[in-house]
Amino acid sequence: MLLGNSLAISHELIGKAVKQGDIVVDATAGNGNDTLLLSRLVGDKGKVYSFDIQDCALINTENKLREAGAPDCVKLIRDGHQNIDLYVPKGIKAVMFNLGYLPGGDHSIGTKAETTIKALEKSMELLMHGGIIMMVIYYGGDSGFEEKEALLEYIKTIDCRKYSVLMCDFVNQINCPPIAVCIEKIAE
Ligand SMILES: C[S@@+](CC[C@H](N)C(=O)[O-])C[C@H]1O[C@@H](n2cnc3c(N)ncnc32)[C@H](O)[C@@H]1O
Repeated sequence: MLLGNSLAISHELIGKAVKQGDIVVDATAGNGNDTLLLSRLVGDKGKVYSFDIQDCALINTENKLREAGAPDCVKLIRDGHQNIDLYVPKGIKAVMFNLGYLPGGDHSIGTKAETTIKALEKSMELLMHGGIIMMVIYYGGDSGFEEKEALLEYIKTIDCRKYSVLMCDFVNQINCPPIAVCIEKIAE
């Protein structure tokens, strides 16, 4: 399948944008799949800052990296991504947000519109020219609709002179398929 799903689209675009030696962020470490992908893309000379608010997510991520023999370039941070500017320098190539709750974890601890938007605003400032933010929005079921509705309103307001915003929505699918959003910095 050429189109696949939103996660596949997210990985495809991240794979095109991120190169060895880049500095990148996983804003939602979860079970570590995206952190592992990013660590392989940037390699030993790059850096991945990986955030989560749950100890169990950071433990899962650490285990995944070790078992996969990932490059030694990941800094795990137990804090909310809304505080990204306290840890991450300016000039980053990419930030990944995989929203919602931890699969296999507590479904009541999910991402929230207010903190996600704060993190997006700070991430856009930290991006280098040509850098991207890749976000996959899960909604429906235990995730509800509030975060999705707020984000889809928010992304329409992003300054078009500085950022290009693309949304991929599988409009003919059932059961609330995740939505992919890519934000590219096109000017400082
Ligand atoms: C869908 S999971 C992420 C999946 C992950 N990217 C992977 O590859 O396995 C969402 C994660 O976001 C985390 N989270 C929720 N609010 C957060 C916040 N404010 N800052 C950082 N992480 C947060 C949750 O604890 C959860 O582990």
